[in-house]
Amino acid sequence: MAIQTIGIIGAGIMGNGIAQVCAAAGYQTIMQDVAEAALERGIKTINASLERGVRKGTMTEAEQAALVARIRTTTRAEDLADADLVIEAATENETLKVKILQGLDRILRPGAIIATNTSSISITRLAAATSRPERFVGMHFFNPVPVMALVEVISGLQTSEATAQEVAELARSLGKTAIGVKNSAGFAVNRILCPMLNEAIFTLQEGIASAEEIDAGMKLGCNHPIGPLALCDMVGLDTLLAVMNVLYTTFNDPKYRPATLLQEMVDAGMYGRKSGRGFYSYAK
Ligand code: 3HC
Repeated sequence: MAIQTIGIIGAGIMGNGIAQVCAAAGYQTIMQDVAEAALERGIKTINASLERGVRKGTMTEAEQAALVARIRTTTRAEDLADADLVIEAATENETLKVKILQGLDRILRPGAIIATNTSSISITRLAAATSRPERFVGMHFFNPVPVMALVEVISGLQTSEATAQEVAELARSLGKTAIGVKNSAGFAVNRILCPMLNEAIFTLQEGIASAEEIDAGMKLGCNHPIGPLALCDMVGLDTLLAVMNVLYTTFNDPKYRPATLLQEMVDAGMYGRKSGRGFYSYAK
């Protein structure tokens, strides 16, 4: 079955980026969110991202308009019924995701694929909440989606080989490199990345160096494009805390305990860029 129409649930930071790359690759794209305002913000972000290309001369204004025209927005989940594949990119909350996925399972035709962009929840468990676990897969994009070249394709216990292959092929058609990963806490990339980010927070909390010095250290000493604390702000401290808690509880290993400062900052509502303040200030 050829994938022609892709549904995206969630117009937030990941959802709108995924919608952009799907439309850029020529797919009919339906972006669904519960709030009209979230959809408007999502389209605004996509236009801002595409305008970089127009300014650089890699895209014309007509191409930008044609790409955005391939993205239909809706607040009604029923409008996803025509999709050959739906990528769920809602808030990282298991109860909410299960509810969304069960609703989606009822709407989609049999054989359509359900993918989730979760960064930390078990693919096997989410799949089991639907009637089609063999057509359910993890499709983990990286932020910012239009720029980052990787998609992790995560197979749950019951994901069929054919589903994983179709989704890896789809990722390649979006211009991404796909790596196949077995379901496990943090999958492959976050299992490695998030403890490093958490360690940077421990380094700050223990007063070993300032935020600027830690970030300069990792940029200049290890050639990272941005420092770990700036990356925490980009990923979202709430998301990072969720991943660390999953690693900590699943592996029952103290090496994954979240830094106290991370928990404190999340409790204070300092989530990073999205809330305007994290390790750095993003006040307009
Ligand atoms: N949309 C489109 N293009 C964008 C963009 C966006 N949102 N953001 C940046 N770009 C493009 C720019 O136009 C520029 O293109 P050019 O080289 O052709 O001119 C290029 O990316 C570089 O951008 P900038 O010069 O503005 O800024 P930087 O050099 O700092 O690069 C970055 C920005 C690519 C985001 C870089 O800082 C980076 O690679 N950061 C690390 C990102 C990372 O590690 N992401 C993974 C996070 S983990 C995750 O997502 C998993 C989750 O589950 C937690």
